[in-house]
Amino acid sequence: MSAARREPGVPAPAIFVIESKSAHETKAWGRRLASLLEGGELLGLIGELGAGKTCFIKGMARGLALREEDILSPSFTLIQEHHGRLPLFHIDLYRLDAASLEDLGLREYLFSAGIAAVEWFERLREAEDLDFLAVRISYAGANARRIEFRATDERHATLIARLRSHFE
Ligand SMILES: Nc1ncnc2c1ncn2[C@@H]1O[C@H](COP(=O)(O)OP(=O)(O)OP(=O)(O)O)[C@@H](O)[C@H]1O
Ligand SMILES: [Mg+2]
Repeated sequence: MSAARREPGVPAPAIFVIESKSAHETKAWGRRLASLLEGGELLGLIGELGAGKTCFIKGMARGLALREEDILSPSFTLIQEHHGRLPLFHIDLYRLDAASLEDLGLREYLFSAGIAAVEWFERLREAEDLDFLAVRISYAGANARRIEFRATDERHATLIARLRSHFE
């Protein structure tokens, strides 16, 4: 039997996987993604402790005309706001076992005209119902990480397509 063919006009699956061999490389992917953002995107960062979620967002700083040093691990402040080329809301839900959109005014940050980058996104109860770009980082060796980008809607799928066409 031949493999199933996609119908013409049906977009390719919105998933893109890369392997990063260093923190530097992970930051480079953050910078590349950020260079394509237009405002209104929601990035859900998923991955174990120390996987590289903050590292990726530090890389995003460069693509948003922000300073990397200003991106901190927001363990005490759950929300950090930065104003570069676009507003960046850096949110870390680690300290909340389960968060809801109604907590901490999250709704306002997640659905803004800026960019929301949320570490431990899976702790958000409504996560699966939202339109977002999942950035899932997993260990693949001491300094190696697998980074999977997955879109749940057309808008973020277009972003993945642009990331691939510019940088793959
Ligand atoms: N390929 C890689 N990509 C990203 N980080 C890497 C890589 N190789 C090694 N590292 C190291 O892993 C660590 C990642 O830390 P980081 O704070 O970004 O993780 P995190 O996912 O935000 O953790 P937390 O859940 O505690 O917030 C850094 O010390 C970084 O230097
Ligand atoms: Mg972190």
